[in-house]
Amino acid sequence: MTNIEKSCSPMVNKQTYTTDGKVRWLATEEDVNDKLISILGKKFEDYRKQWNAANRFELETDFPLFLQIETNQICNLRCPSCPIGTPEAFTKYISTEKMSWDLFEKIILEGEKHGCPSVEPQGTNEPLLDQNLEKQIKFASDHGFIDIMLNTNATLLSESRARSMLKSGITRIRFSLDAATKETYEKVRVGGKFEVTMKNIERFLQIKKEENLDLPVVGVNFVKTKFNEHEEEKFIETWADKVDFVVIQEFQPPELDNDYSAFLPSKSEYRNVLLNDFHCQQPWQRVLIRNTGEVCPCCAFFSSELSLGNVKDSSIYDLWNSQEMHHLRKLHKDGNYAENPWCKKCVNVMSCGSNQAAELLQIKNSNKKS
Ligand SMILES: C[S@@+](CC[C@H](N)C(=O)[O-])C[C@H]1O[C@@H](n2cnc3c(N)ncnc32)[C@H](O)[C@@H]1O
Ligand code: SF4
Ligand code: SF4
Repeated sequence: MTNIEKSCSPMVNKQTYTTDGKVRWLATEEDVNDKLISILGKKFEDYRKQWNAANRFELETDFPLFLQIETNQICNLRCPSCPIGTPEAFTKYISTEKMSWDLFEKIILEGEKHGCPSVEPQGTNEPLLDQNLEKQIKFASDHGFIDIMLNTNATLLSESRARSMLKSGITRIRFSLDAATKETYEKVRVGGKFEVTMKNIERFLQIKKEENLDLPVVGVNFVKTKFNEHEEEKFIETWADKVDFVVIQEFQPPELDNDYSAFLPSKSEYRNVLLNDFHCQQPWQRVLIRNTGEVCPCCAFFSSELSLGNVKDSSIYDLWNSQEMHHLRKLHKDGNYAENPWCKKCVNVMSCGSNQAAELLQIKNSNKKS
């Protein structure tokens, strides 16, 4: 049963900005979490209360609530919105380094020691390319993580992979599609074959149903750009009755030195948030540990620019509690993101498409403060 309203217009009432403010869920995030609470119980409920308090900047935890672990940066597609499909970003932010199993284990064990509830064994990569993925999920599940999630392009979700993923202990899976038709899909997910991806997802859902499994909760993802915005409603209609949640996601820049204004959709409510009252919740929630071991305060594609240090040399605990990280959290709580040069660029490029438009944004902000 989907959580999404059946007709298009009432869905507008269901739109909520959640998590890091960059995604709009068309099932409310609460619906999905209520389902998970009913399956996973009080521990999950307590974790979500902490998560919500951190998102309101009321709870500064002594360890991140969410670890994103990027074990490599390998993908079989070349989506033009992603650093893997953008030569300028690829050169700056993509490397061939793979995280060792020992380092992965060390991260999970540190998380376990601090009661960390949630993890995503995926970064800028295609997680299904990693044959250790199910082993990583099981290891996290065996070591106290109760919310284990990932996004995948689903191109490699064969029947046997679907069965092993369904048995792995994953709690949430999101299929990234960005299109409702073959024509658009093959433009925005370069290298993917529409029919194959659709068949893979339908089969995954069918097996989950046949096996009578409550988990994982399943969603589909649509990063809205100028190139696919005309298919947003068709996408919602296609998936509304098939999955637990549909996410329409804001475009984020693959890197910050070039002009991405051609990607920005013609209408974006989130742009108003960015221009008027932006506070980033990510440094209050999570760290992303890159393939290189760099520990970053957010999942921005360029977040290695904000690296706090390397997990090969320091504990996550120490980096999370560093002065630098406390300071970043305070900046965002107080609405002073522009004092961090990377956050300033991040917001500029997300809202305007390029740093050339930065002046405009700064003028708006200073008007607001005065
Ligand atoms: C980088 S991908 C990695 C996982 C997997 N390969 C996939 O595509 O789902 C993680 C998520 O980022 C999304 N994404 C890609 N480019 C983006 C962009 N420029 N802005 C926001 N999200 C983006 C993808 O659609 C996907 O849901
Ligand atoms: S499938 Fe995912 S990781 Fe690969 S290029 Fe597309 S968005 Fe990037
Ligand atoms: S760069 Fe700053 S504003 Fe952008 S996602 Fe990271 S922490 Fe948030």
